[in-house]
Amino acid sequence: MKAVHLTEYGAAENMKIVGIPVPEPAENEVLIKVHSASVIFADILMRRGDYPALPASLPFVPGREVAGIAERVGSKVTSIRPGMRVLGQMHTGAYAEYAKTTEDQVFALPERVDYFQGLVYFANLRVAYMVYYVFGKVQPGQTILIHAASGGVGSLIIQIAKRKGNNVVIALGETDEKLDFCRAVGADHAINTSKSDYVKEVMRITNDQGVDVSLNSVGGPTLETDPDAIKPLGRWAIFGYAAGKGRIDPFKHFLKSLTITASSIYTYMFREETRHAMDYLKKWLNTEDDLLSVTKTFPLEEIIQAHHWFEDQHSIGKIAVVMEP
Ligand SMILES: NC(=O)c1ccc[n+]([C@@H]2O[C@H](COP(=O)([O-])OP(=O)(O)OC[C@H]3O[C@@H](n4cnc5c(N)ncnc54)[C@H](OP(=O)(O)O)[C@@H]3O)[C@@H](O)[C@H]2O)c1
Repeated sequence: MKAVHLTEYGAAENMKIVGIPVPEPAENEVLIKVHSASVIFADILMRRGDYPALPASLPFVPGREVAGIAERVGSKVTSIRPGMRVLGQMHTGAYAEYAKTTEDQVFALPERVDYFQGLVYFANLRVAYMVYYVFGKVQPGQTILIHAASGGVGSLIIQIAKRKGNNVVIALGETDEKLDFCRAVGADHAINTSKSDYVKEVMRITNDQGVDVSLNSVGGPTLETDPDAIKPLGRWAIFGYAAGKGRIDPFKHFLKSLTITASSIYTYMFREETRHAMDYLKKWLNTEDDLLSVTKTFPLEEIIQAHHWFEDQHSIGKIAVVMEP
């Protein structure tokens, strides 16, 4: 089968298209004929060798999330049958014509949901759930700030906040096109961080109060500025470092008594919050209207361009690589 191989951590150009055997599913695994695979920030970190959880040993096939058809199932698999349309999550192996994963990481797509809609929500809605409810502890009606709000996770946090929390959402993004997307998804306010001082804008919008919660996946220079945009006793939930790890001085804003958290979904992997996130996903896919779809696709052969597109901050919502029909 055709697959992408990474033999050395580093630049996107280190990924090569190769021919390798179709993986053999173990007794508890499902082999999926891949229709499309997500390109997400974790793929970039894994390619660079900067992924904090479970480093993959080289060489490996990158990619962590696919949509496709169950091709074969192991002898102990009970919930998935060959021919079912499924989503699958895996540590590595998604950028290929076939990918395998354990049964518990495979989700049968409801009939009304297509592959591209499924890819938007499968992993990212569970992350957005964790960020919003568990890391951010956002309460109904609160005013919240979302960094990289047009991104795969950010746009779903907007949807949760508007559909479930009745929150006032202030979205941050680097281009006007990204801000249009945030507004279309539901953001009340959208600030272009490349054109204006976002803290000043947040203070203007909130009548100098600041937001109740900032949900920050960008890190880097925003670790200096963000506390100025949060109200006293507010919450600062950091969950990523797209712009670098930076530094935090916990005493710089001592008199505001902020709650500062830096959290990973991995800490919660075997806890009930993660099960709740899966229940939330199932309910959402079965009941919510106007599901978002993948916004841009690349053929598998253009995986390097897809990574550049993502790293150069052009992506809006979710992007994917697609296999030949
Ligand atoms: N804590 C956890 O357990 C956990 C789990 C999953 C994901 N995450 C994190 O959640 C974030 C969102 O993931 P995603 O896959 O949905 O990605 P994404 O948000 O679709 O893409 C990353 C976004 O980060 C922003 N960004 C700012 N500076 C950047 C830079 N120097 N390089 C690249 N991007 C930059 C860009 O938006 P603007 O151009 O609008 O700034 C870009 O669109 C990532 O940071 C990821 O690591 C954390």
